Amino acid sequence: MSDHLIWSGCDTVRLAHEYGTPLYVMDESMMRRRCRRLAEAVKGRNARICYAGKAFLNIAMAKLVCEEGLGLDTVSEGELYLAHLAGFPMERVTLHGNAKTESFLSAGLEWGAGTVVVDSEDELKRLESLCALRGKRQTILIRVSPGIEAHTHKAIQTAQKDCKFGVPLAHLERAVKYALASEWLDLAGLHVHVGSQIHDTEAHFAAVSRMTQLLCELRGSLGFEARELDLGGGFGIPSLPGEAETPAEEFVSQILDRVDSSCEALGLRRPEVVFEPGRWIAGEAGITLYTVQSVKEIPGVRTYVAVDGGMTDNPRPQLYQAQYVVKLANDTTRPATKRAAIAGPCCESGDLLTADTPVPELHVGDVLAVPLTGAYNYSMFSTYNCALRPAVIFAQDGSARVAVRRQTLEDLARGQE
Ligand code: LLP
Repeated sequence: MSDHLIWSGCDTVRLAHEYGTPLYVMDESMMRRRCRRLAEAVKGRNARICYAGKAFLNIAMAKLVCEEGLGLDTVSEGELYLAHLAGFPMERVTLHGNAKTESFLSAGLEWGAGTVVVDSEDELKRLESLCALRGKRQTILIRVSPGIEAHTHKAIQTAQKDCKFGVPLAHLERAVKYALASEWLDLAGLHVHVGSQIHDTEAHFAAVSRMTQLLCELRGSLGFEARELDLGGGFGIPSLPGEAETPAEEFVSQILDRVDSSCEALGLRRPEVVFEPGRWIAGEAGITLYTVQSVKEIPGVRTYVAVDGGMTDNPRPQLYQAQYVVKLANDTTRPATKRAAIAGPCCESGDLLTADTPVPELHVGDVLAVPLTGAYNYSMFSTYNCALRPAVIFAQDGSARVAVRRQTLEDLARGQE
């Protein structure tokens, strides 16, 4: 039996040799299972799931999400374009973002995107004129930042008072009034996203109370009855392998119970609830493969294992102090006997996947796998130091296909004089 690391039935060392490293390998079956688990959790409960494409999106992923029957959140013209190329049914697509460009909004209108989540009063007006120009009425939600601080890294809290997202509470009524008066805007309800990588329901529960209260106030002041309440995403994944999985479908079901009871208590008609999970669907399904380029021991200080990727394909250690561990993909039986930093090739000392992790004896040419890298890694790739974007492989029950081919030097130079 091979002592290679197997991922969704595929030999990761063979994948590394065939497609080159760094390499993102996604367990397609796991992502499909997760879509189904969430779809099952909302079945019969007047709720739906929209996958948040920002976590991990390419044409293959858009097709997968489409086949699984979920909606899709897009946050840029680029994401929307990939959805379009994938043939994603546009009525199931939502446009997000706090600085939507005219071309993004226009593409959404042209292609018939189901919902635009409006983030500011300026956007309400800009969208309204674009709709008027086309004679098209657009369904919208208004995003609110209700002053909730989720238990997560500061950089990924998104509903606190001092926040760039959403219409400030102080101006919500004015914005709703404006939308209701517009012949081009069909206001379906409100949106909130409390943050990301969250492992409990506290912030979502707080959002439910706050949002249903707001809906109640808006009904009182403007006679507005919402058809939809979008509670965003945020369900976390383990930070390290071996930690317990966040039971997102249980959270979804408990949050829906809260919505039911809050609406009942306030005498509100229960709106359809939307969830926008990203990380929980893609995060645990992904591993990244690297090849060891050098092993350097500084006696009495630290051992640096340099690999062929790092902050360009995974900036999360630098941005959020995320911790990662590595597995030796070409010999899972070699015991971890020492500790080392795993360093990337970029010209700065901070380019470390981890500063200190247990490792076996390592040599040039060994293939390392970093688990839990399926979400916000590929999507945050940068070309610093002219790094080439790694390929993305979808692995499923022993067969592998290229979802995104590796960038070439020609790709890198394209468009340059
Ligand atoms: N909906 C909205 C409006 C969002 O802003 C986000 C994430 C989501 C849904 C999906 O959240 P999820 O279920 O994936 O937690 N780059 C950071 C994460 C940024 C999240 C931004 N918004 C990271 O690597 O941790």
